[in-house]
Amino acid sequence: MSELVLEMCNISKSFNSVNVLNNVGFQLKKGEIHALMGGNGAGKSTLMKILTGVYSADSGEILIEGKKAEINNYNEAIDHKISMIFQEFSLVPTLTVAQNIFLNREDKTKLGLINDKECIKKTAKLLQELGVDISPVSIVQDLGVGFWQMTEIAKSLSQEAKILIMDEPTSSLTEKETDVLFDFMERLKNKGISIIYISHRMEEIFKICDRITVLRDGENIITEDCENTDLDTVISHIVGGEVASFEWKERDYSLEAPPLLQVKNLNVSNQLENIEFYIQPGEVLGVAGLMGSGRTELVRALFGIDHKDSGDIYINGEKKLINNQQDAIKANMALLPEDRRVQGLVLQHSVKDNMVLPIIDRVKKGLLVNEKIANNISNEYVDRLNIKTDNIYKQISLLSGGNQQKVVLAKWLATEPDILLLDEPTIGVDIGAKTEIIEIIRLMANSGKAILVISSELNELLAVSDKIMVMHKGKISKTINRKDIASEEEIQYAIQGY
Ligand SMILES: Nc1ncnc2c1ncn2[C@@H]1O[C@H](COP(=O)(O)OP(=O)(O)OP(=O)(O)O)[C@@H](O)[C@H]1O
Ligand SMILES: [Mg+2]
Repeated sequence: MSELVLEMCNISKSFNSVNVLNNVGFQLKKGEIHALMGGNGAGKSTLMKILTGVYSADSGEILIEGKKAEINNYNEAIDHKISMIFQEFSLVPTLTVAQNIFLNREDKTKLGLINDKECIKKTAKLLQELGVDISPVSIVQDLGVGFWQMTEIAKSLSQEAKILIMDEPTSSLTEKETDVLFDFMERLKNKGISIIYISHRMEEIFKICDRITVLRDGENIITEDCENTDLDTVISHIVGGEVASFEWKERDYSLEAPPLLQVKNLNVSNQLENIEFYIQPGEVLGVAGLMGSGRTELVRALFGIDHKDSGDIYINGEKKLINNQQDAIKANMALLPEDRRVQGLVLQHSVKDNMVLPIIDRVKKGLLVNEKIANNISNEYVDRLNIKTDNIYKQISLLSGGNQQKVVLAKWLATEPDILLLDEPTIGVDIGAKTEIIEIIRLMANSGKAILVISSELNELLAVSDKIMVMHKGKISKTINRKDIASEEEIQYAIQGY
């Protein structure tokens, strides 16, 4: 029996008398990677926030290396060599990577000033170990979300953690970047560091984890060695029943109408080069590519957020000028942004207010909001996407990470646009909801909409797309009809740029 570094015993927690964790036990061995799994709202982040002193448990105790530990705030967790990469990023966007990593722990010069050079040097070393190709002096907000995550990870490592908690670290990483991270986790493990790993990407778990614990509705359903269980069993524990797997079905929808959206000669300096494609009514175009390949830049330029150096956009054959987001919305386009928390939600507002924001004109009666219509729409999507919330009036910041994501998605689906641009629609959502989202995308396509989906999860892209466009270094490197794709590798190759 290898030694336990951590034991959480009989942990219970309620918020406003709603029970979120119920007598949960959790044990972590030295040098193991332990998956903490469960549907959106199951209690994973809450359990980890109790471990890191962000929340206090109503009852139960925590033992670290056999000794009872009182952890009342995050600094005390770091004192116990516990470090967490939060689902909500904790970085200061206006600072550099190095400044973020060593925030409040900066090396000082002899004169007591912050020794920037030393921080930059150490950061460069950490990033190199991680295999991340970013400069320590880049400003965080100029980097893509994936790099934010890498910066968070580098930050935890610099704190010399013995217990590292990763709350969905790969949700915006592509496969290659994920592999880099996994290599790195393997090395940490061999050094005796224990990792608690939270992810909704099922295939990952069996690649990297030694043991797995599933929470459902705030209870520990099972803790098991990975080699003694399998994907389907784990999924059934998570959802408490069966779930349909997503498979591609050739749709009986005839794509004969002229393009609904056509893009010609789109250029954005240093980001996009001569992008040309079209989407017919009823068609789903999947966009694959690495982080930084231009996928997000493409939809941002289309939607009028970023400046285009050139490029013609035709909607139903008519040339449209889209120079800002208002133009895009007027042209009946909607964009689900990649970075939802920053761009997608008003955190102080309720689920309902967030949901009806883009369709406020539709739910108005005179000058007043028609509460009944607003409530109906909100309740409908809460139901369809199985959003876990006490009711539609709950403040959105109090929902679990995945449930917040679902609200952003619902809010754009409810606008029923003609052209829907979805940047990573299934980030952070649980296996049940992923299937549901794929189903909704298909339904919307069947009603004649043009849909562009970006996803780093190839299996989802293959399940939902009619054609797949691969981007590499800002250019289109390949476009293939779904039915002509013989194997995943074919796309995987193009993604890597071969
Ligand atoms: N501060 C809070 N006040 C009220 N309810 C809360 C608070 N924090 C969390 N909850 C509720 O506790 C439940 C569990 O949330 P938690 O964030 O732990 O879920 P999770 O398992 O991490 O889910 P996800 O996979 O979506 O991140 C959710 O229903 C959430 O709404
Ligand atoms: Mg969470």
